[in-house]
Amino acid sequence: VLRSVVTGVGGYLPERIVTNDDLAKIVETSDEWIRERTGIRQRRQAEDDQPVSDLAVEAARRALAAAGRSPDDVDLIVVATTTPDLTFPATAAIVQRKLGAPVGIAFDVQAVCSGFVYALSVADGFVARRRAKCALVIGAECMTRLMDWTDRGTCVLFGDGAGAVVLEPGEGEGAVADRGLLGFALRADGTKQDLLYVDGGVSTTRTTGYLRMQGNQVFRHAVVNISEAVVAAAADAGVEVSAVDWFIPHQANQRILEGVARRLGIDETKVISTVAEHANTSAASIPLALDQGVQDGRIKPGQLLLLEAMGGGLTWGACVLRL
Ligand code: ACO
Repeated sequence: VLRSVVTGVGGYLPERIVTNDDLAKIVETSDEWIRERTGIRQRRQAEDDQPVSDLAVEAARRALAAAGRSPDDVDLIVVATTTPDLTFPATAAIVQRKLGAPVGIAFDVQAVCSGFVYALSVADGFVARRRAKCALVIGAECMTRLMDWTDRGTCVLFGDGAGAVVLEPGEGEGAVADRGLLGFALRADGTKQDLLYVDGGVSTTRTTGYLRMQGNQVFRHAVVNISEAVVAAAADAGVEVSAVDWFIPHQANQRILEGVARRLGIDETKVISTVAEHANTSAASIPLALDQGVQDGRIKPGQLLLLEAMGGGLTWGACVLRL
């Protein structure tokens, strides 16, 4: 089988840092409460005139540079986002224009925090079936735009950012057997909508709405759901979870990612955690964490990686890949 291989990774965070103490000035909360319950110390916030496509483009440029590719090579762009620039066109088409990439395929995937795992799986379908040769898969979010700044139960949890990978067919000169996207498990359960959703939309309220969450209920589902998907993705890849070199979870809450690692018997030294600095950047959190691990030299080519996420829908999923 032809496999899609991740050939480059990039990330971008807006400059502006918002600390827990900054938030304690606008809602009844404290640095101590936020750190103890979530592990979050700070988050980044995009400027008002900085749309999500700008974050995505910067992450994409960095991923293309890491892959040794230029925008001219890109024939597929998939953006996972729940905070698009506009209702339409897709943010992916805006990214294509801003990058100066040629006419090709471009569309968005909406699976909230699971969006990056979903988007990887969709792009894999194009690349592995030879319908694209150089795909950009981007997770990009301005989650702070969806915050109700009077709701301390949600507004302290989220941040803005973007991460991207380049996917190419694993064939030709220098191709390494067993490298690439090896296995997936994707899940959705629409009956759990009330646990996590945005209370506005084009065809209902005609507003953007605010994020609403029953945090403790989401928490209860997270560890069990994610663990099941991870085991299924590992089986799909034909590997043991214990063989994984790096566990790169969606960064919602330090307690959730530790809980999943514990349940799966993954040593804490193998977990990439960025939640303290980034908070929850929804679809951007996995590629941002992957980028951090690659940048600081922990994650190396040839290693086996496990990605997982859960978010609104509820949706969840996992991916096993060899870099
Ligand atoms: N500061 C101080 N107190 C707070 C805050 C805050 N920021 N937020 C809530 N509290 C209070 C509540 O009002 C409540 O007070 P009460 O007992 O007087 O009513 C108390 O803290 C406990 O609230 P819980 O919601 O039960 O607290 P919990 O321990 O569950 O922690 C949290 C809340 C951090 C949201 C946790 O449930 C969580 O992380 N859940 C998972 C959420 C998640 O992962 N979401 C993202 C997944 S999907 C996606 O990424 C879009």
